[in-house]
Amino acid sequence: MHSFSELVKRFEKRLNNEAIFSKQPTNLYEPCEYLFSLSAKRVRPALCLMGNELFGDIHDDAWHAANAIELFHNFTLVHDDIMDNAPLRRGNQTIHDKYGLTTGILSGDIICIYAYKELAKVKNSLSDVLSLFNKTAIEVCEGQQLDMDFERRDDVSIDEYINMIALKTSVLLACSLKIGAIIGGASEDDADLLYQFGKNVGIAFQLQDDYLDAFGDTKDVGKQNGGDIKANKKTYLLLKAIEQADKKQLKKIKKLLKAGSDDKVENMLKVYKATEVDTMCKNIMQDYSSKAFENLKAINVADENKKPLKELASYLLNREK
Ligand code: IPE
Ligand code: IPE
Ligand code: MG
Ligand code: MG
Ligand code: MG
Repeated sequence: MHSFSELVKRFEKRLNNEAIFSKQPTNLYEPCEYLFSLSAKRVRPALCLMGNELFGDIHDDAWHAANAIELFHNFTLVHDDIMDNAPLRRGNQTIHDKYGLTTGILSGDIICIYAYKELAKVKNSLSDVLSLFNKTAIEVCEGQQLDMDFERRDDVSIDEYINMIALKTSVLLACSLKIGAIIGGASEDDADLLYQFGKNVGIAFQLQDDYLDAFGDTKDVGKQNGGDIKANKKTYLLLKAIEQADKKQLKKIKKLLKAGSDDKVENMLKVYKATEVDTMCKNIMQDYSSKAFENLKAINVADENKKPLKELASYLLNREK
């Protein structure tokens, strides 16, 4: 069994040794190289490799699937940054900001196609792997659409929010693990339990992402602080603040949602603190994390082998970036 950091190191080494993208036209591929050169957590490929290692030695197919999943994730980031009007990614300028919108669209497209090119190299169980990958990719797009739709709605419920983040974020973490498990020859029950584990960890992961968007430090997170507040994203923090607010606080939230003023982020953060939704967000993360650990416990492999997954889940929920 390898730890998260060992797997990331091995994944990065392979990434640096193989040219992923073609060279020409430069204006298409240079932005892709740029994004991949920036430091990232590589959570999803590590999950795929761990999913495999839970049931057997790491197979070449898992490396291809891990590449495909990281490529797909990076594609979603490029288009997400366009949709979210984000200036910063991984501590650097976003692709569309640096190279222009049309480059952002097409470089995103080509990264997605490269993901499928890499996935096609999987030799065993390709039809199962491909069908899970496709189902997940569709769900991510559905989640991203809901995320955008919610910006304009003022009646989003917390259940709707959880469903949206499950789609846009957590199914890809779950899929990474399950593809690894399929490649490792897991039973259907164990593969499904691992998927559920990933789904619950993924929900907690996106809750932490929303938390860091509000309360994190740009120099750690590598993204603009308060971007969600600026865009009226319906995060857990906002929805819970609306639920918890007294009359005066509710009036303030409604006014801030209509405003585009310079102090919008600062004032919304004050409401979040006053309504104590920062603590509530951490509590609900803990609930999803506990559910995840229950799922992991039920998987029919030796406890010792589950250690890297436990460590990774704990790291993801306590991370500052
Ligand atoms: C960012 O993902 C997008 C979300 C789903 C929250 P990560 O936080 O894994 O970003 P990188 O890949 O490490 O930059
Ligand atoms: C990202 O959600 C989900 C996907 C990229 C599919 P966010 O919009 O919150 O991710 P960040 O914060 O920009 O990384
Ligand atoms: Mg975003
Ligand atoms: Mg987004
Ligand atoms: Mg975010």
